[in-house]
Amino acid sequence: MFADRTNWNLKSNRLADALERHKLSGRKLFDLSTSNPTECGFKYDAAAIMGALCTPASLQYHPDPRGLKSARHAVRDYYSTRGDRVNIDDLLLTTSTSEAYSFVLRLLANPGDELLIPTPSYPLFDFLADINDVKLVRYPLFYDHGWHIDLYALKQAITPRTRGVILVHPNNPTGHFTKVEETAQLNRICSANQMAIIADEVFLDFTLDAAGKSFVANEGTLTFTMSGISKISGLPQMKLAWLAVSGPEEMKREALARLEIIADTYLSLNAPIQMAAPLLLQQRAAFQQQVVARVRRNLSELDSQLIGKKQFGRLAIEAGWYAVLRIPATRPDEELAIELLEQHDVYLHPGHFYDFPEEGYLVISLITPEQDFSEGLRRLLSKA
Ligand SMILES: Cc1ncc(COP(=O)(O)O)c(C=O)c1O
Repeated sequence: MFADRTNWNLKSNRLADALERHKLSGRKLFDLSTSNPTECGFKYDAAAIMGALCTPASLQYHPDPRGLKSARHAVRDYYSTRGDRVNIDDLLLTTSTSEAYSFVLRLLANPGDELLIPTPSYPLFDFLADINDVKLVRYPLFYDHGWHIDLYALKQAITPRTRGVILVHPNNPTGHFTKVEETAQLNRICSANQMAIIADEVFLDFTLDAAGKSFVANEGTLTFTMSGISKISGLPQMKLAWLAVSGPEEMKREALARLEIIADTYLSLNAPIQMAAPLLLQQRAAFQQQVVARVRRNLSELDSQLIGKKQFGRLAIEAGWYAVLRIPATRPDEELAIELLEQHDVYLHPGHFYDFPEEGYLVISLITPEQDFSEGLRRLLSKA
């Protein structure tokens, strides 16, 4: 009855089952995995947001497959405050970054074509690839005083079917930026092999130690840069994201014309959100300040709790909301995560969620409210 592409293992895993049981128990949970900013106690300007959604202009329907011009202007202004020039004709609005990925995969890949993805990284790609009939081929990142792309392995992974390389910039959960020299090499590799760069920049603004340059003006090869307000303004429920296309002029124009047809087929964005886009993007300053302040406080709490605990370490972070902990690999990380949940009320993600190639890694969210973070961490470090 069903297509092979949806032939997924639909059974929940042991950790998800344990979490479900914990929720039913009613016990307090120290959730060190939180990634939903609307549930972390951040302050939003509710009156301004609600006001922006209630404009009479939202009662009119003026469909534009690339998104309303006023909303695209707001995205252009976002980049110009970061020092990047983007033309509104090179932007296409979507409901989410995931939708933007789908559009790009439909544009670039025939069934069975391949895309290179980083590992470790964010766990959404497998489903996106299945839905779009694309095969994912992993290229390794390695850690040596910070994270780097294994460019040799990346080149070895290229086949005649490779259509592009995905970069998460900064990456989730490793929190590192693609370096300028890596970008130059990637541009050379991609343009020599008719491959595009797909840069996911949802965490671009949340910098701690180093600022990263957006790919939005990358010209070295056909480039799709995506982001959205789910992270930038902490408003995932509003469903507003975008895709910017850059690169050699003729290829860019062809890509945009084809993307426009894909977008026109769905016209998935609604008018109220597009009308509110300038204000929703303006909210980012207050939101980002709160996030970065919390991330810094939690990071310093983490470092002080790690003092004297030589068997644990945390990996360097340049940006983002997550920290990667190195722990002794004496048993599967998943087993430890289940024990922490069942016996100590602490929930976190084992490294294999993000495709860490070996045991001994845990990922914790740095936007967890401070008190829960501190107590959850104390429990974790005394039991791991
Ligand atoms: C790296 C990365 N890209 C994209 C997304 C999803 O963004 P959106 O809500 O715009 O689909 C996430 C969500 O956590 C993410 O971590």
